[in-house]
Amino acid sequence: MHEFRYVRGVLHCEGASVAALARRFGTPLYVYSQRTLESRLRELTSALAPLDPMVCYAVKANSNLAVLAAFARRATGFDVVSGGELARVLAAGGDPARCVFAGVAKTAAEIEYALRQGIYCFNVESEPELARINTIAGRLGRRAPVAVRVNPNVDAHTHAKITTGTYENKFGIALEDVAGVYARAARLKHLWLRGVQMHIGSQLTSAAPFRRAVERVAPLARELTDRYGLEFFSIGGGLGIVYNPALASGDPAWWRTAAARRFLTPDRYAAAVVPPLRRLGLKILLEPGRFLVGNAGILVTRVEYVKATARKRFVIVDAAMNDLIRPAFYDAYHEIVPVRPRPGAPRRCDVVGGICESGDYFAKNRPLPPVGEGDLLALLSAGAYGSTMGSNYNTRPLAAEVLVHGRRAALVRERQPIEAIWQGERPAPWQ
Ligand code: LLP
Repeated sequence: MHEFRYVRGVLHCEGASVAALARRFGTPLYVYSQRTLESRLRELTSALAPLDPMVCYAVKANSNLAVLAAFARRATGFDVVSGGELARVLAAGGDPARCVFAGVAKTAAEIEYALRQGIYCFNVESEPELARINTIAGRLGRRAPVAVRVNPNVDAHTHAKITTGTYENKFGIALEDVAGVYARAARLKHLWLRGVQMHIGSQLTSAAPFRRAVERVAPLARELTDRYGLEFFSIGGGLGIVYNPALASGDPAWWRTAAARRFLTPDRYAAAVVPPLRRLGLKILLEPGRFLVGNAGILVTRVEYVKATARKRFVIVDAAMNDLIRPAFYDAYHEIVPVRPRPGAPRRCDVVGGICESGDYFAKNRPLPPVGEGDLLALLSAGAYGSTMGSNYNTRPLAAEVLVHGRRAALVRERQPIEAIWQGERPAPWQ
């Protein structure tokens, strides 16, 4: 599952002691396991082997160059949502011909940049965007590969802020309008109708919405392929991971529970989507983000103070919502474990950061083993949408990041120097 476990009473990432990493690189610190990334990729590609899919890793989940390089070396493609992400992929050695470009607000400059780089396809979210891509491609004397993102109006049963495939959301083009959009797009001379795409949401934990969406979109894909000779069908990302405490603490017994039997695994995902997709006979793309990197990262933080009040026990740590916003933003659960557990009965605590917001917390009313000032805690399953959603709020530097491979550890992002936070700012000339 993942490569974080206790060795002689100290949490390790693969062969490296997390306590030693924190000493060497300071905290807050993201620690990633390369072996976990690689095994996640293998698990997914082997479950979907009958489709021989092109995996386009969703860069937004974790865009550190070292993470991208690990995937680029394994010849994955990439799903990018900005010119900046595409530039990162290229800097990490990724192949532009295996990149898809998604997002509802692509600027003219981004479209031109991506066209010049020779990306695999634009996943298009609206008709005005098709028209803009056509104009730019014409000016550059190229044909732009495009796929329309279909909104199948399927409820993904995930958090509202990460549901994308219903008509309440800004994403894609409504299923019943798609055929008309392709017909009009076919008349635009500088477009190449290369595929069709969907993505219904993130952190899905059951296969049913995927199956429903594929079943809804497949007949349309067939019709469009007959008419316009499409090459691919992208089923997007969304495969959920386990944030569950038992798994997070490495308990194999969890996988024998009823909850685990229902949980979406690559094999269950494959069982739901492979048969209908195989019948299509198209090249299949997928855009997993969280599944590949989520369980592969932890955020290590140090306890600054334990503040006991009449009602509460606050464990105040040196990481905060600017480092990992998921609990504050989505009420997301991240398991928190001591790097060096001490004996003693667990006590309920709120684990909070130092930012001046009541929403700045990592856990509420959570039983934790005894912790004191100076102790190290690890927030598990923080590899996806952790560092990439980081900010400088309260003028706090972005955390350092380390990649571990076996016993080796490399600093893959240095802690941001404080002055870098206001680099580019200056007083106005009249001040
Ligand atoms: N493809 C498209 C078009 C997407 O919008 C996304 C994610 C993905 C692929 C990758 O989805 P994944 O496999 O990672 O579920 N910040 C939120 C998640 C936002 C997801 C946005 N789109 C979180 O922390 O839970």
